[in-house]
Amino acid sequence: MSDLSHRLNRPLTIGTRTIPGRLVLAPLSKIGNLAFRRMVSGYGGCGLLFSEMCGARSAPQGKGTNARGFLWRPAELDRLVCQIFDSDPEIMAAAAARVEAAGFFGVDLNFGCAVAALCRRGCGAALLKTPKQAEAIVAAVRKAVDGPLFVKFRTGWQDNPKAAAGMARRFEGAGADALTFHPRVAPDRRSRPANWDRIGQVKAAVSIPVFGNGDVFTSSDCLRMLDTTDCDGVALGRIAIARPWVFAEWTGALDPESDIFHNCALALFEQLNRWYGPQIAMRRFHRFSAYFSANFRFGHTFFRSICKARDPDAVVAAVERFFEQEPEVLSRPNITLFR
Ligand SMILES: Cc1cc2nc3c(=O)[nH]c(=O)nc-3n(C[C@H](O)[C@H](O)[C@H](O)COP(=O)(O)O)c2cc1C
Repeated sequence: MSDLSHRLNRPLTIGTRTIPGRLVLAPLSKIGNLAFRRMVSGYGGCGLLFSEMCGARSAPQGKGTNARGFLWRPAELDRLVCQIFDSDPEIMAAAAARVEAAGFFGVDLNFGCAVAALCRRGCGAALLKTPKQAEAIVAAVRKAVDGPLFVKFRTGWQDNPKAAAGMARRFEGAGADALTFHPRVAPDRRSRPANWDRIGQVKAAVSIPVFGNGDVFTSSDCLRMLDTTDCDGVALGRIAIARPWVFAEWTGALDPESDIFHNCALALFEQLNRWYGPQIAMRRFHRFSAYFSANFRFGHTFFRSICKARDPDAVVAAVERFFEQEPEVLSRPNITLFR
């Protein structure tokens, strides 16, 4: 067993529950859907799956379905955390109670999304400008649920070394069981490298588990993040889109064969169609392709052909055509193609 897999395949207790491994899927809007999560789970090695972010006003109601296409499978609930966003403590608390009643592993509060539409409503990363409000949300949700409560956040709106550690302490004080920390300031949409020193500072400031996140693209990046920051686990975003089997690979559960790229693309599209129907499936596959194409030299041709496809058969034909040419796979995806 490699040093990395040994480090990742260790249980971690989060509040009242324990996960078997420390490599987790970060929340990914419009990507981390049921079909994608099913694929990640099928490969194995993923300790926890965070859902796409979900508005707290429409957060899980009923069994397995919800407005706006937020779907889940009963089989994934013991590993699935539902991420919610809003600016109102009571709305967040009520949503968290529904999440818990539906049987999710836990609830995650989004204090990191810097998209203007969310921030204008005082949600996501905007809450880092109003620490008392953010703290009030954590406290209200804590009262509403017994199970694991996560907070995902960023450095803040300025790169102040003390601010992120201070926020982390507030969240812990208000009852959070674990943090996922992405060390970038809020207006920075991944144009500059993530500052991992801040992860070390957040980790040192609290006694609850901290998942480090940001710019982990290879197994050696992952090991280096664990070593240099002392974080308890690692949350993967873009590399998990490009290579959904990355959890299995780095935890030693799978030694991927070269046809995994071809099979993965077809299987994901099939599952998207099955769960969401052709229109949404095409839109979601299109988004996935932007990251997946970064695996190949001349991968932009893959992305372009998926963009051009007008119906599901044309999507499948485009995938087949691309792989017939035996594309050259890059050892590290071309991250300049990641948006
Ligand atoms: C397509 C996409 C969608 C994302 N959606 C969310 C989201 O819904 N909630 C959230 O907290 N972060 C979201 N993020 C941020 C990621 O969870 C993660 O923090 C970021 O991508 C940095 O990690 P990485 O370098 O491993 O990609 C998203 C990122 C991407 C690329």
